[in-house]
Amino acid sequence: MSSLRPSGGARPLLRVVPPPGAEATEGDSALFALHDIDVRYGRVPALTHVTLSIHAGERVALIGANGSGKSTLLRVLHGLAPHAAGAFATRVPPQGQAMLFQRPHMLRMSVRNNVALALWLHGVRWRKAQQDAVAALGQVGLAGEAGRNARTLSGGQQQRVALARAWALKPAVLLLDEPTASLDPTAKREVEALIADAAHGRTLVFASHNLGQVKRLASRVIYLEHGRVLADLPVQDFFNGPLPEEARQFVKGELA
Ligand SMILES: Nc1ncnc2c1ncn2[C@@H]1O[C@H](COP(=O)(O)OP(=O)(O)OP(=O)(O)O)[C@@H](O)[C@H]1O
Ligand SMILES: [Mg+2]
Repeated sequence: MSSLRPSGGARPLLRVVPPPGAEATEGDSALFALHDIDVRYGRVPALTHVTLSIHAGERVALIGANGSGKSTLLRVLHGLAPHAAGAFATRVPPQGQAMLFQRPHMLRMSVRNNVALALWLHGVRWRKAQQDAVAALGQVGLAGEAGRNARTLSGGQQQRVALARAWALKPAVLLLDEPTASLDPTAKREVEALIADAAHGRTLVFASHNLGQVKRLASRVIYLEHGRVLADLPVQDFFNGPLPEEARQFVKGELA
């Protein structure tokens, strides 16, 4: 058990990673369990009293207005929230998850090596890492760009490289922050199909402003407002059942 830096010296964030092979007992089989998580940036509350669990095989969509806390929640799941307080338990070791950030970061090197380096850091030998990188780039339609400096690619192309980097790791959990946001309409459809494919046998948590995409990809929808979870429902119930008023207004506004 290790603790990360607490916010304001209040409650420490406890991150619990059971040893590999530990048997899940009833009640603690969640891949991620968050209890009363608070994240503040100075005076700004990014997440407030968030309590939820995510189980293997779920496809969870995070929705909500700009600044509602979607990216922050993804960061907490990925273990990247030094300002968090509360209790966080996970059964997924860091190498079992891949995160696609909202603004992908490209290193000043070839597209191929940007992907290969991630594999190499996960213990894959360099030559094999380069081969796997080219295969992953092919999956996102960028095989022809493998030799280019990644920093010279367009925003949408860089997002696809970041997706290739995530796929190549073959993680048990995919954390994707607005994975199709800066893609053109054709690429959006193609990448969405890739995500649907990649989600088979995996756990997927993604943020999206595209409710059509949420309907197509998600099994569960979490609606955030000002850092609070106001709805957490199976996808059919979210779109067909009664919702808290704020969530109903949000869906109405997004669909309008
Ligand atoms: N590094 C940071 N420093 C200060 N405030 C931050 C930081 N990151 C996020 N915040 C604040 O935390 C809140 C939640 O932000 P977050 O990025 O999680 O929202 P989001 O739902 O992902 O929004 P968007 O739809 O715009 O991506 C916002 O008020 C934001 O301004
Ligand atoms: Mg965000």
